[in-house]
Amino acid sequence: MQKWVVANWKMNGSKNLLNEYKKIFQKHEKLIVCTPFIYLGESAEINLGAQNIHWQPKGAYTGEVSASMLVEFGVKYCLVGHSERRQHFHETNTDVRAKAETCLGADIMPIICIGETLEQYEANQTHEVLERQLAECLPRGQGFWIAYEPVWAIGTGITPTTDEISEVHSMLREKLPNTTLLYGGSVNGDNAATIFSMPNVDGALVGGASLDMATITKIYSASAK
Ligand code: PGA
Repeated sequence: MQKWVVANWKMNGSKNLLNEYKKIFQKHEKLIVCTPFIYLGESAEINLGAQNIHWQPKGAYTGEVSASMLVEFGVKYCLVGHSERRQHFHETNTDVRAKAETCLGADIMPIICIGETLEQYEANQTHEVLERQLAECLPRGQGFWIAYEPVWAIGTGITPTTDEISEVHSMLREKLPNTTLLYGGSVNGDNAATIFSMPNVDGALVGGASLDMATITKIYSASAK
């Protein structure tokens, strides 16, 4: 079965890169590209996702973007609680839940990111941390996705072992049987096929490797096998 590929450009990319995506991916349904806000109005031909959202419907929140604005531009997906948002912008689990609920109220699919830090991983606290994040971040209501992204694997070129990914994903599957579960953290052209082959992994969240057309194309092909 074809798995999902969610590209997270972070604060990278350009109109040119979006045009390249449109040329290759417009017909494919299982690729979502999460671009910086400014590019979200550029294309109706591919699945677009935001990287952030504000939980209030409107108001004096300089620099922020609301759910209704995203909906106006046809955005159907939104990353919520990415570890870089938690780290650099001090987003808490409470914020993440509020944002996820705002998404649900606007028919935007929240892709809720969870994951342990290196310190927590080394202290064998992965499950405990994930369970706390789930307890505190999950919105009331159905229809969200989860991305498991160990913080120490993001942008480092290091990934957990297949056993470690499988173990976390089967725990997630047990708790959330009907939820789409993505793995993220240093997914690349070489490891994508192995990651997609895991039964409880429904897709991948791809950061750095999504900025190179040859690599994202290779990852997309692996998702279809
Ligand atoms: P990476 O990032 O693929 O560059 O590790 C993943 C992410 O942050 O979503």
